[in-house]
Amino acid sequence: MSTEAGIASVGIQLPSLYLPVTELAELRNIDPNKFTKGLGCRDIALCSADEDAVSLAVGAAKRALSRWNGSIEDIGLIALGTETAKDMSRPLSAWVAEKLGLSGAVRSYEVKHACYGGTLALRQALEWKWSGASAGKAALVIASDVALYSLKDPGEPTQGAGAVAMIIDEPTVAAISPVSFPYSNPAFDFWRPVGDSFPSVVGQLSLDCYKEATEECFRSLIGDRDSRETLNSYRAMCFHVPFPKMVKKAVLHLGETLGWSPEETEELYRSKVEDTLEWNQLTGNAYTASLWISVARALVGLREGTPITAFSYGSGYGAELLQITAGPAAASAAWLADVEADLSARESVDMWEYETLRGHARASA
Ligand code: HMG
Repeated sequence: MSTEAGIASVGIQLPSLYLPVTELAELRNIDPNKFTKGLGCRDIALCSADEDAVSLAVGAAKRALSRWNGSIEDIGLIALGTETAKDMSRPLSAWVAEKLGLSGAVRSYEVKHACYGGTLALRQALEWKWSGASAGKAALVIASDVALYSLKDPGEPTQGAGAVAMIIDEPTVAAISPVSFPYSNPAFDFWRPVGDSFPSVVGQLSLDCYKEATEECFRSLIGDRDSRETLNSYRAMCFHVPFPKMVKKAVLHLGETLGWSPEETEELYRSKVEDTLEWNQLTGNAYTASLWISVARALVGLREGTPITAFSYGSGYGAELLQITAGPAAASAAWLADVEADLSARESVDMWEYETLRGHARASA
């Protein structure tokens, strides 16, 4: 088995609007510190009436394709991880492939497992390459979501949106180890029944499941080795980010179960995790794209060969811890331009404009 496949190109697309969580706090008559300090949130990325999970996915894919040295004819698989499906039968990948002009000898499908769907799509694409089934073709993997809760739901300040597209071919941006550490445990922590516009959440259970999954995956990674030496060997540790404070809670839980002092764990968080959350604070929870926004941020400027981890979590629940190594193209990080362009062009909405936008939100959003 060749382990040469990895991420060859990255494209990111963020929506054109955002709501500062302090505006939402004012609208809901809640102390803004609850959202900013209690949850660690800053902005909620919001779609305009012309944007949705398809347009975000198409934008991200076009950007990834534009800076890759292959062409659309070299793509043999498109896998779209999302929980913003439009249809129970037709995969979201069909809408995206249509806009990209991608047809022919191409496997096209949607992957669903809450926020874990993007990572599963990536793993499947890598395993397709590693198995030889790709016959030299590349895969286009996209994680795209618009995360909205019912108005006044406790999850409202954690909303967000965004898409990350990755071309799976030569590991010029990053190599991903074939060895990963999955863990799942069926739970009803967060779900959206057919026909419901917004998810149902058992808040505390969802937090407990996330922490349990973190502990189990990291324990598998560490195995019989020294936990300090193992975790400190990574330059950065990326996580699925439902809201930034969740990640800190999970790291503190991990440190405690490993028998570390609170100071040691704080230092691990400060030196390996905090910076990886920078873009997530500006997008909010982008569900399947959240982890990959964090990974894209962490890879910026890394020297070739630098190792990082990526912890994927999706309610239901399924999780997987990946080991990623920066490739030669990480240093110049072409996708940084996507994020800078989208963040500087986006417009803030106030609480009244937010209410109007939500009034027009589509059922699938
Ligand atoms: P809540 O009921 O608003 O929270 O819901 P709370 O009352 O527990 O307060 C939150 C924090 O703010 C607490 O901090 C408070 O103390 C603090 P903690 O004690 O936990 O450290 N606080 C304040 N801080 C400063 N000043 C104040 C103040 N007041 C309170 N004045 C909850 C919070 C996360 C449950 C809610 O937002 C929610 O339901 N979110 C959605 C579910 C979620 O994100 N779960 C995370 C794990 S599941 C996951 O990651 C999967 C997911 O992405 C979906 C998927 O996979 O598809 C969600």
